[in-house]
Amino acid sequence: MGFISEHWDLLADRYHKNSQEDCTGGFAYEKYINTPSLFSMFPKKASNVLDLGCGNGIFTLELAKHFPNVIGIDTSKKMLKEAKKIAKGVSFIQYDLEKPFPEFDYKFDLITAKLLLMYIENLDGFAKECSKVIEKGGIVLVSIRHPFRRYGEEEGMSYFYEKTVMHNIGGGSGTEVFFMHRTLETYINTFRVNGFYCDLIEEPRVRASFMIEYPISEWRDGQDLLYKEYIKYSDLKPKEMEGSQFTFHLEALIKESLIKKSSQGYSLTAKGKEVSNRMDYGDIDIKTQAKISAVLCCIREEDGVTQYLLYTRKKNPFWGYQGFPTGKVKRGEDISEAATRELLEEANLDGIPELFAIRHYRIYSNEDLLLEDKIFFAFRFKNPKGKLTSGKEGDFKWVNRNSVYEYLKRPVKEVPEIIKALEKFSGEITFLEGSYTTEEF
Ligand SMILES: C[S@@+](CC[C@H](N)C(=O)[O-])C[C@H]1O[C@@H](n2cnc3c(N)ncnc32)[C@H](O)[C@@H]1O
Repeated sequence: MGFISEHWDLLADRYHKNSQEDCTGGFAYEKYINTPSLFSMFPKKASNVLDLGCGNGIFTLELAKHFPNVIGIDTSKKMLKEAKKIAKGVSFIQYDLEKPFPEFDYKFDLITAKLLLMYIENLDGFAKECSKVIEKGGIVLVSIRHPFRRYGEEEGMSYFYEKTVMHNIGGGSGTEVFFMHRTLETYINTFRVNGFYCDLIEEPRVRASFMIEYPISEWRDGQDLLYKEYIKYSDLKPKEMEGSQFTFHLEALIKESLIKKSSQGYSLTAKGKEVSNRMDYGDIDIKTQAKISAVLCCIREEDGVTQYLLYTRKKNPFWGYQGFPTGKVKRGEDISEAATRELLEEANLDGIPELFAIRHYRIYSNEDLLLEDKIFFAFRFKNPKGKLTSGKEGDFKWVNRNSVYEYLKRPVKEVPEIIKALEKFSGEITFLEGSYTTEEF
């Protein structure tokens, strides 16, 4: 298929310009929906990354922020000219990926092909070439235009009828490129016969967080639904946004019960207020906060000896670690109620919780990855009642106070400090926060 690079060269200027304007066309979808979905599938670590059909380098730049060595390949000189400006420090190669791939000195842990495969005629050859340059256990992450979107766009076209069509990609520029319509089955099986298996499919779509952040708060300064009780359609719609695109988002918000319409105008529903309350503006995501849990520290006197109820975890993360049992506090639940409930569920014991310590710990891997961020409320239960039973999540044992450290072969790092606080407790609640690294998780 000749002239591919010339076609994309013709499109490059418009493609680049549109991709810089968030508010219009499919690029808002790319920025806010598709790319975050691809991010979520990135491996934690990858030394060498190959971005195929890298275009003007917007996605390549994101890859370079995550991974140390990224190479971008594209057939279009003009696209690459922009890419070199955007993703400085990345190596770019102009190359037609219908041909056997260029030779590399090393293999890649991650190969990405974002919005490329629809333009590749020899998909089988492409998958074969990927299999030659991928590291064992590496990932090929592809993003394609959903083939169902073509189905129905052209009269008489069946989803199952694979064919090459001309596709106007220039947003009115009149430039057309060849577009290979294939079923999902063809995509997946072509990679399968070349040694890959499909690990995950995502069909990214408008998320509640996107709908709240993007269409509501960025549209107009002070004119958005976060700051007003009701807003009229004409005040809500930004002038620069096409009516149809605006209506698309508005309807999606109404369908998700985030916005409601009344005679006074549009307003947030209770669900919409709740979602926006948890939003992290700027990152366009629901705020993720530290996990809140209750630590259950049971003590009893047995023949004049103080004993602690210790726990050996049989659940990931921290499988095999020892300390006191813990339980997550459910949304809307009283923390001391959660402690009592967890003690009953986990150990079949009943007792009266006394809060003695509040702790906030962040746990990092040796590579500085935040593994856990937790706030816990430690409760003392004196002489809890009932017949102790161990569940499938861990084993319990009453241990004499003097033998605690002998028993704890693999204590959770914060446990000695909690034991100290428990022993010192005389009615005053203490608070500490800190962080530590761990090799195992
Ligand atoms: C829709 S753009 C996607 C660009 C970029 N990955 C992104 O997501 O913004 C498709 C890109 O594939 C490139 N391309 C198409 N056919 C190609 C081929 N045979 N070899 C290399 N690149 C090709 C085009 O030049 C264009 O830059």
